[in-house]
Amino acid sequence: MSRVIDPSSLRRYTAGVLEPWSPLLVSNRAPYEPGPGGRLRRGAGGVVTALLTVAEATGAPWVACARTPAERELAATGGPVDLGDMQRPIRLHYVASDSDRYRKFYSVIANPLIWFLQHYLWDLSREPLINARYWDAWEDGYVRVNHAVAERAVEVARELPRRPLILTQDYQLYLAPSRIRELLPQATLQQFIHIPWPTPHYWKVLPQQMRDAILTGLLANDVVGFQTNSDVRNFLVSVEELLGYRVDHRERAVIHHGRVVWARAYPISIDVPAMEQLSTTPAVEQEIAGLQQRRPEKLIVRVDRTDPAKNIVRGFLAYERLLRQRPEWRRRVQFYAFLQPSRQDITVYRDYLASVKATAERINRDLGELDWEPIRLEFGENLRRAVAAYCEYDVLLVNPIYDGMNLVAKEGALLNRRDGVLVLSENAGAHEELGPWAMTINPFDVDATADALHVSLGATQPTRRRLARLLREQVKTHDIGRWISLQVRDLHDLVYEQPSPAR
Ligand code: F6P
Repeated sequence: MSRVIDPSSLRRYTAGVLEPWSPLLVSNRAPYEPGPGGRLRRGAGGVVTALLTVAEATGAPWVACARTPAERELAATGGPVDLGDMQRPIRLHYVASDSDRYRKFYSVIANPLIWFLQHYLWDLSREPLINARYWDAWEDGYVRVNHAVAERAVEVARELPRRPLILTQDYQLYLAPSRIRELLPQATLQQFIHIPWPTPHYWKVLPQQMRDAILTGLLANDVVGFQTNSDVRNFLVSVEELLGYRVDHRERAVIHHGRVVWARAYPISIDVPAMEQLSTTPAVEQEIAGLQQRRPEKLIVRVDRTDPAKNIVRGFLAYERLLRQRPEWRRRVQFYAFLQPSRQDITVYRDYLASVKATAERINRDLGELDWEPIRLEFGENLRRAVAAYCEYDVLLVNPIYDGMNLVAKEGALLNRRDGVLVLSENAGAHEELGPWAMTINPFDVDATADALHVSLGATQPTRRRLARLLREQVKTHDIGRWISLQVRDLHDLVYEQPSPAR
């Protein structure tokens, strides 16, 4: 996608309120990364989508890890990299760690250890097996990369014209804020957690030293943002039970080292005008025409990274059950799965991708016919194709095991042109907002998912139209601008207006 929200509309949300501060964004993944031939292309994932909007609207610089050899080369030039092709360029400051340290940080601790924990993915009877390998990756990878990121952020923040507002993103950087706070006590720190926050029981999978460091790292912020109210509750109870702190549940706040730390829910969303505009471009229309040529009467769609949390295999098994139990759908429906291979340097992710392929191939072999392929499985990173699939679905299957938000559900609901039905896991953050107008499923219950697919495919036109309209309205009125403005409002009301020992 060329660009995100019109910065002028975002300035409306931030005007005046952000004035006391100079914002600085900090994340693991950079917003743009060198692709084939060295051309910069937009980084993957919801974090980048959302934060680009903030960076473009406020001119905030960005600190990110150099993750690949190409990024390390860019980082070696020393100074910040200006990301062009935008109305306001973004100054990107890379943090380069050697590749083995980065591997320990990213491929051993952040993913899978912390990611698996926060999505309840461990098969606890066997894994994780925390041993010297994990401790080394923790100390030499996660802790050191976090500190390097924090130190770079502080260097950049010291050059900013006003009081720094450091907006750190996600689970890769839990330890950065405490280091930033040590070096820059006057800064305002806010961190947004894009993934679910599990219960304190489940955090006890991690040894105390690790989980305490994560919690106290987060408590160095002034505000910690989560996707849902349930994540906020789980976080506060974790602080209470695991650290033994007294928590004010009514205020959703806790005192740490004499400072008030607030926990709040800000459900992330999408850039509505930009997505709508993209969906009407000739390139997308061409993709839609291609899809229309091949599609049977009904199309079930999913668009996902190949992450075990997305529950792709169970989705195929539910579809298989639908075809076996209700043969009237055979030949009339196709399941189009458009998937982006993800984190392929991690064994468990490679294995998962292999089982996604094997399951689809087996179902196609067992049930397919000469001129009908039950599952069309396609891999690639192509936003236009994803948008075309959103426009064309009759049913969108979003069945994650657990998911922070799931922006596919929102993008699909906004852009669909066929009054398609959203089949949505009760464990996706998006369910807190979209649940009333979706077909709710338990993601583990394959039979119930098959039934939900059947009911959705057969829903009457008035029902589909009503549900689709209500979903669309919900997304339109709860867009990315709202996500940002809620955070800005809280920074102003909770942090700026309140006397605190740090000011
Ligand atoms: O939204 C969760 C998240 O892990 C982001 O932090 C990240 O940018 C995105 O998903 C994609 O993950 P990765 O950067 O590991 O490919």
